[in-house]
Amino acid sequence: MASRAAIYRGMMWKGRSWAIGSRSMSSWWSNVEPAPKDPILGVTEAYLADPSPHKVNVGVGAYRDDNGKPVVLECVREAERRIAGNLNMEYLPMGGSIKMIEESLKLAYGEDSEFIKDKRIAAVQSLSGTGACRLFADFQKRFLPDSQIYIPLPTWANHHNIWRDARVPQQTFRYYHPESRGLDFASLMEDFKNAPNGSFFLLHACAHNPTGVDPSEEQWREISHLFKVKNHFPFFDMAYQGFASGDPERDAKAIRIFLEDGHLIGCAQSYAKNMGLYGQRVGCLSLLCEDEMQAVAVKSQLQQIARPMYSNPPLHGAHIVSIILSDPDLKSLWLKEVKVMADRIIGMRKALRENLEKLGSPLSWEHITNQIGMFCYSGMTPDQVDRLTNEFHIYMTRNGRISMAGVTTGNVAYLANAIHEVTKST
Ligand SMILES: Cc1ncc(COP(=O)(O)O)c(C=O)c1O
Repeated sequence: MASRAAIYRGMMWKGRSWAIGSRSMSSWWSNVEPAPKDPILGVTEAYLADPSPHKVNVGVGAYRDDNGKPVVLECVREAERRIAGNLNMEYLPMGGSIKMIEESLKLAYGEDSEFIKDKRIAAVQSLSGTGACRLFADFQKRFLPDSQIYIPLPTWANHHNIWRDARVPQQTFRYYHPESRGLDFASLMEDFKNAPNGSFFLLHACAHNPTGVDPSEEQWREISHLFKVKNHFPFFDMAYQGFASGDPERDAKAIRIFLEDGHLIGCAQSYAKNMGLYGQRVGCLSLLCEDEMQAVAVKSQLQQIARPMYSNPPLHGAHIVSIILSDPDLKSLWLKEVKVMADRIIGMRKALRENLEKLGSPLSWEHITNQIGMFCYSGMTPDQVDRLTNEFHIYMTRNGRISMAGVTTGNVAYLANAIHEVTKST
């Protein structure tokens, strides 16, 4: 073996890098360019760097109370009190917390779902909603390598990254109608019809991000019927169950319609928003299968995909969720708290619209109250958003999406005035 001195003698300084013979030592990553900023998370970084006392962050999709402060739900605090000192820190099973999964399936598929009783659902705990989507995308690629995914236009930007990194080719389908700021139902149905039979579709179960525009119950029934005819696969991303109407049962309506119609669905659930467990990364991926045997096989394969990535999912958030959902008192407290969050957002929609109308805005702002969930797709252009940021210290994504969760009694008049200023000459 060469001595250390001999190794140093062989080293030469060549400009930016050390080299031993031809092998470079400190330039391993010289070809790495900085990644582009994430369009959503970058907004928060810019907001934090702004010293203005008037600054407003309506960029990131995280709930704030009426003082603009992050919220920890009382049911979560109570679950944590019960956990404190009473748990070991062992690994969860590879598929995650059995109890948390059981409770999650009841929320998505219904308390008395026959599919749960018949053990037809393959489900694993996931790293929140993002992890559920990614696990599904990898599963899709592994077992149906020639399939594609149809994604709504527009959608949460990360959907594109998730299926891109899983190497599943993407198509889009029309969803939003810019003139009415509502659903483009006719075009959406046309795109579903024109897609090859047996295509995979990503559907937002409720509170579509970024538009806040959901199909009505009747429209979901028509979509479900068409999916049956075309034998399409519906993958529901349900990141906001409870946030749209304030009632998680009501927000699961689209999924229930598809289940009634006999579809085999996929579903990504997240507890980031509806329990405020953003950083705990707790969610669930489920796939309804033909029978129990298939469900066992599918679950084992999902676990096998997870194993080399993160081995098994984290413990703490899963305990919080299972304690809350399995205790009737804590569950009813949670339901009240979800409703409080949803109602505050609905109230802020009304206030923002009223303020704009009071200012004499020549534009229609009806869509602010027609849209639901966390976001308002305002229709503002990237230039108008830039003006909001540069002149008024208001931060949001350049697609004009306002996170209504960041609007408060204290800032709504300021926000309305700024929006009026940048839009009045359009
Ligand atoms: C539509 C949609 N899906 C999934 C997610 C995933 O969130 P998380 O991974 O925090 O659960 C989000 C979060 O913003 C979302 O808006």
